[in-house]
Amino acid sequence: MGDESKKNWVLMVTAQSPTNIAVIKYWGKRDETLILPVNDSISVTLDPEHLCTTTTVAVSPSFNKDLMWLNGKEFSLAGARYQRCLSEIRGRASDFEDEEKGICIKKGDWEKLNVHIASYNNFPTAAGLASSAAGFACLVFALAKLMNVKEDCGTLSAIARQGSGSACRSLYGGFVKWDMGKDLSGNDSVAVQLADEAHWDDLVIIIAVVSSRQKETSSTAGMRDSVETSPLLSYRSKEVVPKRIVQMEEAIKTRDFPTFSKLACTDSNQFHAVCLDTRPPIFYMNDTSHRIISYMEKWNRFEVTPQVAYTFDAGPNAVLIAPNRKVATLLLQKLLFYFPPTPDTELNSYVIGDKSILKDAGIESMKDVDSLPLPSELKDSIPPQRQKGDISYFICTRPGRGPVVLADETQALLHPKTGLPK
Ligand code: ADE
Repeated sequence: MGDESKKNWVLMVTAQSPTNIAVIKYWGKRDETLILPVNDSISVTLDPEHLCTTTTVAVSPSFNKDLMWLNGKEFSLAGARYQRCLSEIRGRASDFEDEEKGICIKKGDWEKLNVHIASYNNFPTAAGLASSAAGFACLVFALAKLMNVKEDCGTLSAIARQGSGSACRSLYGGFVKWDMGKDLSGNDSVAVQLADEAHWDDLVIIIAVVSSRQKETSSTAGMRDSVETSPLLSYRSKEVVPKRIVQMEEAIKTRDFPTFSKLACTDSNQFHAVCLDTRPPIFYMNDTSHRIISYMEKWNRFEVTPQVAYTFDAGPNAVLIAPNRKVATLLLQKLLFYFPPTPDTELNSYVIGDKSILKDAGIESMKDVDSLPLPSELKDSIPPQRQKGDISYFICTRPGRGPVVLADETQALLHPKTGLPK
């Protein structure tokens, strides 16, 4: 690696990765260490413009140990999942040379070089928005680029899977299937892209971040309890999901929104039924989540065909999917009718992401929110209370692309000379 005077170089890569929302859920592992699931799952990748992780990874002969900073704070890499991702990538690294900078790294040298990692989520890590999916996908993708790993995206997805199961699906944009695989090694438990984000770009996604005081059961602990105690989970994984996967693939391929909606809603509800079937039962949704489901069901039943799909992960937040902008505009109007912001909340911070939907909905001020009409599907029922404060904010987004390298050095999170956080 050259003499001492040439050891002050820093080599780094910055990448950006999306998060994803499963529409056929992953719940339950058949191997806890390798993170192998009990069934296939399908997700939609969310636009990284609104929800993403940015990660800079660097190596230098001057680094004394592996270090990581998450959202500006030092973060321990001691966890087995981080160690696995690091060693899987290091083991696949290849020769690298940059004559101009005088850097020459041979395959075997990567193991001796320490790495600095700085990662930043552009959404609240505590909001329950699958930050570890975007985080591990970004970490693995950035390390693979840095260390000149020649493997394809499928192999990288199998490495990211060992950090966080759903991270494997964030290696691709658009619509993605995580094939559970059969091999004990886990090598065939990989993500595959079903269609890219341009295939069905009419879809609009609105995430309702539900206010919650309660600490949730971690997914890892919840899944373990479900696998051990829920008869519904073993029925679901063997008898229900395999058929649903085929139907969902077809619905995505043909852009059949009514079928997509029916499958996504039913699958989300079955996942939460499995949680209730677990001993002790797990409650991820709260009263607000349940109210959202009943409002969306009422709307879908009032119309001839489903207008919206809903899905809930291991937390109270709702992910709502509309088939196009026109329906998304109506959806946002209904959501703001049911869940108006508190008087001290700015409309601008209550609806974030793609704000053009708010504009299309003709909502520019609190006065516009106050005068929203009663949704048609409620005309014959008792008007609900317009409870304030149940929702923290809404994020308007769409299906998005997979991970990319950010070539612009100004976007790097580490200093190019020192390799320390900027
Ligand atoms: N967990 C949550 N966010 C993460 C990130 N950005 N990188 C790695 N792990 C994470």
